[in-house]
Amino acid sequence: MNMSLKEIEMLFKRSPVFSGIGRDDIVDLIRLGDVRSWSRGSQIISEGEQGEALYIILSGKAKVTLYGEGGKEIVLSMIGEGDFFGEMSLLDGEPRSANVEVVRDIGCLVIKRTNFLDYLKEHPSVAVQLLIYQTMRLREADRKIGGLALLGVCGRIAHTFIGIARKEGKGSDVVSIDRITHEDIAAMIGSSREVVSRALKKMSEEGYIGVEKDTFTLYMGEIDEH
Ligand code: CMP
Repeated sequence: MNMSLKEIEMLFKRSPVFSGIGRDDIVDLIRLGDVRSWSRGSQIISEGEQGEALYIILSGKAKVTLYGEGGKEIVLSMIGEGDFFGEMSLLDGEPRSANVEVVRDIGCLVIKRTNFLDYLKEHPSVAVQLLIYQTMRLREADRKIGGLALLGVCGRIAHTFIGIARKEGKGSDVVSIDRITHEDIAAMIGSSREVVSRALKKMSEEGYIGVEKDTFTLYMGEIDEH
């Protein structure tokens, strides 16, 4: 993976936690880490392992998963450029809380635990941003639990798509998000691929969403989460 400092800096400007930090602080952070790549299908983090590093995504896409009884997959989140993962074990010293699997070839800045903890102590404004981001994620998890408990399949899909659009900072009338496989959507809403396929067809026929080759289009005015 070859990225210039300028490109990494531009990427950090779009990141929820690192957007506020100055050039020198970004350079400090980059110096602490190594850039590594993984191809699609690789598992970067496994639930239960000891966590010794933080990963900041420079390119590509991953999913955060858990496996239930019988190997049933649950997708907690889809993450991409500017997002990071692995901070939970790093902060509390507990084992990894979930798996992180590569969905599209990925490049990450990998920073060792002690280096990142020292960096946070020296850059308290980044520590505060991290706290705000963790709070945001807890809010999103609460919203998701509410949606799973209270909504039907179409509502849960709409709810999930709106969550992704919000996370990507999109919020106007017509919004495009990257297409996700029906299987992954099913794993995000606790349903089956067949049920999701039928629900997406219905939502598309009724004008709530558009299904294109690489994207889903959300007609926000039409979508009623409830
Ligand atoms: P850690 O527990 O070290 O390893 C697994 C990582 O998955 C975890 O840190 C977080 O970075 C990430 N993760 C866990 N739960 C979620 C979630 N609900 N949404 C997004 N990322 C998560």
